[in-house]
Amino acid sequence: MKYSEFAYIHTIGCQMNVYDSEKLMAILSSLGYEKTDDIHKADMVVCNTCSIRHKAQEKAFSFLGRLTKLKKTKPELIGVMAGCVAQQEGEKAFERIPHLDIVLGTRAFSRFARHIEAVKSGRQKVTDTADSSVIYEVMPETLGFDENQISRFVTIMQGCENFCTYCVVPYVRGTERSREPENIIEEITAMAASGVKEVTLLGQNVNSYGKKEGKISFPRLLEKINQIQGIQRIRFATSHPKDLSMDLICAIRDMDKVCNHLHLPVQSGSNAILKKMNRGYTRETYLKRIIDLKTQCPDIGLSTDMIVGFPSETRQDFEDTMNLLGEIEYDSIFAFAYSDRSSAPAAKFSDQIDEEIKRKRLNELLERQDYYSRKNNEKLTGKTVDVLVEGASAKKRDGFEAENKNIKQMSGRTQSNKIVHFPSENASIGDIIKIKIENAYLHSLWGTPAEIGEK
Ligand code: 5AD
Ligand code: SF4
Repeated sequence: MKYSEFAYIHTIGCQMNVYDSEKLMAILSSLGYEKTDDIHKADMVVCNTCSIRHKAQEKAFSFLGRLTKLKKTKPELIGVMAGCVAQQEGEKAFERIPHLDIVLGTRAFSRFARHIEAVKSGRQKVTDTADSSVIYEVMPETLGFDENQISRFVTIMQGCENFCTYCVVPYVRGTERSREPENIIEEITAMAASGVKEVTLLGQNVNSYGKKEGKISFPRLLEKINQIQGIQRIRFATSHPKDLSMDLICAIRDMDKVCNHLHLPVQSGSNAILKKMNRGYTRETYLKRIIDLKTQCPDIGLSTDMIVGFPSETRQDFEDTMNLLGEIEYDSIFAFAYSDRSSAPAAKFSDQIDEEIKRKRLNELLERQDYYSRKNNEKLTGKTVDVLVEGASAKKRDGFEAENKNIKQMSGRTQSNKIVHFPSENASIGDIIKIKIENAYLHSLWGTPAEIGEK
């Protein structure tokens, strides 16, 4: 392919956006654009946006504000806002970012090429926030593979119909739609052929994959992916606690490539708040699922999402959340201060919590979790774990490489999703090697190779 122009894509937000940006790049490649990491070289600047919290949304506007300066030196530059903020704001986006050319909503990818053409041929700016029940598929071979990228995301479903009262996703990503299993399998097979070893399957609620359309269930999809040669590890996110089935728990227990890790967002430990959030489960039913999981998969790594300061959250509600941490002892958590989203119902709830109280509760929660994260990591000292090598360690041990000239410091992950740093002369990216854990820290482990495992 002969490239004539350069495209710079900036991604904000979740893993799904990382995958969507790869799709956008595939479309741009087919139009003759080459990816660049240098924004000043770009003929097209795309910001793939996220509106889950106010902060993410503001990051998008702040990034796109750069268009004014960039267009001064290159007036023909095309500026694109894609994704959730684009869907939410529509035409209004031009008021804040006058130099934008295209506002590309979450279901407008199939028309992206047409919109670029319209802008290039001198027509007006384009806004496309049209709804669509069709999932836009790109040919797997056009997705572009980097040989060192041994881990990839694969979106298996889009949208959400759970309508948690704090959440903007159902409004910006639309109703739930599952991809055809054949397309997913074809894409992952192509990834495996190009050296990918680990896939993370993405959806707002993977447990309901295929249910609406009567496709195969999520555990059956896992079974098929488990058979793809070359794929060594399968992860998935997110599982909604109300739909976590015994079938899925058994899939984690029995399928060799399905990682021994589950991300199960609880959001709150208080029944009153869970009800107001419209989560569809109670603290007790959530805990029952965790007991089932730990019974079937004793070494499972557990993580969760939590929101503090949801409207009307009392100190006691917050204490209930804090106590839940102690009952479950998660390996890690993602915690957020509640942030009003104008299209989500909770924005209109009374008893909004003071920002300062939210901030304090968030810090308290994170501090308590640090104790459990460290405790869980410490349990692994002296044990030997399988680590999928991801690359050179970002964090080096002081003086280590100076003392051990030929030894590199590498890092990878355990099945339970813990980061392990280790010294190695010959480990390559993509190897699965056995590491004996010697030291445990808050966010990572340190160990030494026990033996080279299978590739
Ligand atoms: N405010 C704060 N956190 C939120 N999340 C979703 N919506 C909001 C909001 N309005 C968090 C939830 C979800 C994660 C992806 O983001 O914890 O699981
Ligand atoms: Fe948002 Fe709830 Fe859907 Fe998750 S399940 S995307 S929190 S509405």
